[in-house]
Amino acid sequence: MKKKIVILPGDGIGKEVTAEGKKVLEKIAELFDHQFEFDEAQIGHDAIEASGNPLPNETLAKLKNCDAILFGAVGHPKYDNDPTLKVRPEQGLLKMRKELGLYANLRPIKLFDELLKASSIKAEILKGSDILFFRELTGDVYFGEKGRKDDGNTAFDLMIYQRYEVERIAHKAFQAARTRKKKVTSVDKANVLESSRLWRQVVTEIGKLYPDVELEHQFVDSAAMKLIQNPRSFDVVVTGNLFGDILTDEASQIAGSMGMLASASVGDTVGLYEPIHGSAHDITGKGIANPLASILSVALMLDISFGLKEESETIIKAVEQTLKAGYRTTDIADSHTDKNKILNTSNMGSLVVEKLEKVTSAQAV
Ligand code: IPM
Ligand code: MN
Repeated sequence: MKKKIVILPGDGIGKEVTAEGKKVLEKIAELFDHQFEFDEAQIGHDAIEASGNPLPNETLAKLKNCDAILFGAVGHPKYDNDPTLKVRPEQGLLKMRKELGLYANLRPIKLFDELLKASSIKAEILKGSDILFFRELTGDVYFGEKGRKDDGNTAFDLMIYQRYEVERIAHKAFQAARTRKKKVTSVDKANVLESSRLWRQVVTEIGKLYPDVELEHQFVDSAAMKLIQNPRSFDVVVTGNLFGDILTDEASQIAGSMGMLASASVGDTVGLYEPIHGSAHDITGKGIANPLASILSVALMLDISFGLKEESETIIKAVEQTLKAGYRTTDIADSHTDKNKILNTSNMGSLVVEKLEKVTSAQAV
């Protein structure tokens, strides 16, 4: 198979982790006889420094002309505490999502058994959890009208959803539930918000087209509590952009660490694959970032964008074996971890690549 992949390292640890994702793609190409052609482009703070634009036209042109995107992260501490800066790294990410029509953000929360102890939640509560989030990605307060009035003393962000936006993400969630445990939990705040009442109404209507799938509605505050109280009670969760952003960070604890969670953003055209963690400037340059979320994002890319199920599963198995052998990055290490098996970013990536070879040769016999 011949595919063109654009790598967008972005800011902070984005560069470090996408380098490992790329290593894995190169090895997969070699082992399964595919041709992956790579290109790279700038986004975020780096792009602002270079051209004043967090999503340069040149980058966008490359993205519109490729088969899949591997993205790192955007962000820089300089902007976090300075609201006066008008051009911000995150704008590049949001514009990219909008321009490419990436309206569905899939965030699978699956715990590798080996990491049961890495989470701050009790193992007996977590064991067997397997949740697939569908976070709507191109609507909500993220894209509603925003501004200031009264000499800057009043600020607003409009929470807005249109029927078609809810319909298309709901369809995706129900279709996915059919391949899983056939349950969809729709999360909103319909007791307070009009946009949530539309959300609930539309999801209910779409649900009638999938009578084999159970649909339940939860308010976001209660869902936040139930997620860590009884994560096994969820299968597919569908929710808006803001609630999905918050709930998936919370749910990352079910998977042991933010450093483990991959995501896929899809819509009508190209797919974008990225860890859910951010640029993490506190650890940037130290070589200790966990590359597994980026590597697992590659697994999602192969499966969802290219239909390469076997290759995708090979990556997941290689990650599993790496963990089983006791290797950890610092974020997923615990008091039982052998100190000699705590790896830096690049060594963790190389070890997964080594395991890829072992998994493939074992499958061949
Ligand atoms: C995410 C991030 C982004 C978001 C930021 C960086 C704009 O937190 O992908 O979850 O809020 O969507
Ligand atoms: Mn987030």
